[in-house]
Amino acid sequence: MADKDSRAGSRYATAAILEYVDRLHAPHDSGLSAAFEAPAKEKMPAIQLGRSEAKFLELLLRVAGAKKVVEVGTLAGYSAIRIARALPMDGKLWTIELDPRHAEVARNAIAIAGQTANVDVLLGAALDVLPSLEQHGPFDAVFIDADKRNYDGYGRWAARHLRRGGLLLGDNAYLFGKLLDPDPEAEAMRRFHEEAAKDFDTTCLPTPDGLLLGIKR
Ligand SMILES: C[S@@+](CC[C@H](N)C(=O)[O-])C[C@H]1O[C@@H](n2cnc3c(N)ncnc32)[C@H](O)[C@@H]1O
Repeated sequence: MADKDSRAGSRYATAAILEYVDRLHAPHDSGLSAAFEAPAKEKMPAIQLGRSEAKFLELLLRVAGAKKVVEVGTLAGYSAIRIARALPMDGKLWTIELDPRHAEVARNAIAIAGQTANVDVLLGAALDVLPSLEQHGPFDAVFIDADKRNYDGYGRWAARHLRRGGLLLGDNAYLFGKLLDPDPEAEAMRRFHEEAAKDFDTTCLPTPDGLLLGIKR
């Protein structure tokens, strides 16, 4: 997430080092800038992926040869643009967003990035929208980055609709440091972890707020 202390994942990273590597390895063109800067400009929450995390997502999906990807939680389209850039010409990203304003801002940024043909921004609550995508499955990757209390439901949907070898990614897997708390949101996030560990070969990367990564068995 862009607005958290991005040094959390490494004891050696200083703000200056992170600024240097982001600038060098994850530069922005106009489409990425539009999406990255929109939350602050449009008074939306600035909770998009960090620059290097988003570029990591793009590279990972390229290595995996992903063609059909589902994202839960679009915001202003920043991670969606990175995902779309990993896809081949005939690839497709379906990205789901609850807030109509966020979806509109994302569609604009995705157009500036020249990715309209490869990206469908779908408006609605993800648990309601996901069943409408099943006709397009099985999918190569599912990236979850939305309401934390439903991560377990999103994870179960991904386990059913990813192909064997498909990728599951879940941001905020540390739940802002509250993963082990005794409350329903943390319990849902722990179910997401525990069920993913059964259906996928998993790890949880120490990004600022944890990134669960799994390959479907
Ligand atoms: C962390 S942001 C997504 C950031 C985006 N993936 C990025 O890195 O650029 C989470 C988004 O999920 C949306 N959201 C929250 N609950 C949702 C739900 N039930 N279904 C779909 N989207 C939801 C929020 O409105 C918000 O825009």
